[in-house]
Amino acid sequence: MTRLSVNINKIATLRNARGGDYPNVLQAAKDCERFGAEGITVHPRPDERHIRYSDAREIGPIVSTEFNIEGYPSKKFIDLVIEVKPHQVTLVPDAPDAITSNAGWDTVKYKNQLKDIISDFQRHGIRTSIFIDTKKENIENAPKTGTNRIELYTEPYAELYVANREKAIEPFVFAAKLAHKQGLKINAGHDLNLDNLKFFADNIPFLSEVSIGHALISDALYYGMENTIQMYLRLLKKY
Ligand code: PXP
Repeated sequence: MTRLSVNINKIATLRNARGGDYPNVLQAAKDCERFGAEGITVHPRPDERHIRYSDAREIGPIVSTEFNIEGYPSKKFIDLVIEVKPHQVTLVPDAPDAITSNAGWDTVKYKNQLKDIISDFQRHGIRTSIFIDTKKENIENAPKTGTNRIELYTEPYAELYVANREKAIEPFVFAAKLAHKQGLKINAGHDLNLDNLKFFADNIPFLSEVSIGHALISDALYYGMENTIQMYLRLLKKY
């Protein structure tokens, strides 16, 4: 069964727009879990324009499902993750000024760097995942970093899905099979939504987890958070 982890960054973006504490991100994390979310994801960025480092520290202890912190492994990020000790850390190669993550790791070029960081996290009992595209050599080299999981970067799937979903899913099926054969668990995320999630989940073998933020929080404006989470869970065959 594929777990649904809800990325609550956009709730922090809304809070930050007024500078106060409403909506409250801690309450949002608790409510998402109450409505069925099987994990909470946050992605603190260096400018803290949405989730702040202090939010991650406060959310950690109250998450009762699975807490995933994702981000670029700067010294500050690594220190935060080791302090908070989430269930999972997802490493993303995004530049400090990126609007959103827009690429996966080059696991050939960054193998040694990733290996050191990953072993450090694992020594602290934190499961690791690396954000990665479907390129064969990136998948083939992923195990050499020592990571427990990969997170497939699904934006290319979401983009092509509208025009040709069979073609869009092909490289992801190939990548998932190859990763599984190498003993890696598979997560996925980016631009997954109510339209494209079901076809993805139905076709990708061994899919452990999806993390979804932008579309899910936007859908909640229309359907409400509880309904929306249930709708996403239904697409993952939870109901
Ligand atoms: N996975 C990673 C590594 C991400 O950086 C993001 C965006 O923060 C997501 C998943 C979720 O993407 P979206 O907000 O498009 O659902």
